[in-house]
Amino acid sequence: MAWEFRKLAPGENVAVETQRDPFAAPKWAPPVWHMPEGLVLLVNAVRVLVRTVVFLVRNIVPVSAASALAWSGYAYGWTVPVLVLALVGVGLGVWAAVDRPSFVRWIARPVRSWWRMAFVYRRHWQPVLVTAGLTKTHHGREYLPSLVRVRCSPTSDRVLVRMLKGQAPDAWERVAVNLAHGFGATLVRVRDGDRPGRVWLEFVRTDALAEPIPALPVPDASEVDLSGLMIGRCEDGSPWRLRLLGTHVLIAGATGAGKGSVIWSTIRALLPLMLSGLVEVWAIDPKRMELSFGRVLFERYGRYSSDPSGGMVKLLETAAEDMNERAERFAGLTRSFTPSAEFPFRVIVVDELAFLTAYCPERDLRKRAESALAVLTSQGRSVGYCVIGAQQDARKEVNNLRNLFPDRIALRLDEDEQVDMVLGDGARDRGALADQISSVPQIGAGVGFVRLETSPDPVRVRAAYVSDADIRQMVALALPDLDVEGAA
Ligand SMILES: Nc1ncnc2c1ncn2[C@@H]1O[C@H](COP(=O)(O)OP(=O)(O)OP(=O)(O)O)[C@@H](O)[C@H]1O
Ligand SMILES: [Mg+2]
Repeated sequence: MAWEFRKLAPGENVAVETQRDPFAAPKWAPPVWHMPEGLVLLVNAVRVLVRTVVFLVRNIVPVSAASALAWSGYAYGWTVPVLVLALVGVGLGVWAAVDRPSFVRWIARPVRSWWRMAFVYRRHWQPVLVTAGLTKTHHGREYLPSLVRVRCSPTSDRVLVRMLKGQAPDAWERVAVNLAHGFGATLVRVRDGDRPGRVWLEFVRTDALAEPIPALPVPDASEVDLSGLMIGRCEDGSPWRLRLLGTHVLIAGATGAGKGSVIWSTIRALLPLMLSGLVEVWAIDPKRMELSFGRVLFERYGRYSSDPSGGMVKLLETAAEDMNERAERFAGLTRSFTPSAEFPFRVIVVDELAFLTAYCPERDLRKRAESALAVLTSQGRSVGYCVIGAQQDARKEVNNLRNLFPDRIALRLDEDEQVDMVLGDGARDRGALADQISSVPQIGAGVGFVRLETSPDPVRVRAAYVSDADIRQMVALALPDLDVEGAA
């Protein structure tokens, strides 16, 4: 028995016989439409025309330059365009030699961005996005997010994308790894775009912080800004500035993550104000490792304790009492603190917070330390007290004072859950991959993520490495009449 259904109206299906089995279900095939050839040609001609116009408008500068050269070659002979090209080449070479920054800004970077847009991003855009599942097909038509702009920096590319209507940035965050592999980057971060519906994708090509940064020079006293001490470098090459005035800082990182370099870079940046008596550093050093190297420095320009049987807790309590006195004196008089010789800015550095609040065997000492720290962190900000606490373990049970530290730094961490515990919810999804920082000191020590006030996106930073010799030099600078070798 044969099946044959005739099409009665457009859009209806036709059943065609495919096999001889009379019990098999009929196979439905769509109707075949025959287009007039002229119409097909016309549609394709219009399509080509539109694409050509779009290409010419998008590449107006190179197209005009090439046409002008071609025209001059046609009108005056081939030597003219060759001469023009040679002159332009020499001019650009001289510009690059004389004023490199402006050459990079106006020529090298835009050309590179254009090149990478055309030959990396536009070229692989559709296949990568289709494979990553960021396109949609509806009624047989493919909808593709569009590429708006590419900006290159020496180590990364920022790509502005117009998402599909109804898409959200987290759809892109979920496939960040696919995008990184697809476009040959080591890492992709998704950042808020310039307006709703758009996102910036940050493709990191090479690690700008892979090399250790040597200790920064001790600044001049007039350059020290307690609202932004220079302690290292951000991924984009700008200085990493750490705020101490009006805040407290928690540094979290596994053992060997480089907490010491953050602490010492900060002390180094503070040194000129310590020498002039406007800043005091009170150091609490339960491990007797990190800070003991500068013990003489702290004893002269602040205080120092590593005494586990109560000395460290006493130091914290003294600070808390003094802070209360200050608060009483300042009450109603001033709201913003300016350091003076009478009331110096006091930085309380605690190398291992958990030793005082969790690991210390004596319960009474733990309680006292915890309450002194709570007093200092909750009330000290406006009266010139800043607590810098370092901690290996970011888990909640270890430190329930964590939320009292407004500024937090996540160095290399052991587990991915700890990232959000340190930097706040969603930080890891926004690119703070602190658990993936290399454990090789040369590459990863001192590298971490911070959240700056200006943006919710975490920024990757690296602290400068203050070596033992640098610390010795600082001590020699601060205490010239001391036999440094003997003291250290
Ligand atoms: N910023 C840095 N750049 C390069 N190397 C660094 C940096 N900071 C530290 N290092 C290297 O990493 C090693 C460990 O650093 P550090 O002692 O500061 O770690 P830590 O986080 O204090 O560890 P722990 O919790 O065990 O005290 C140092 O001996 C040093 O060689
Ligand atoms: Mg340490």
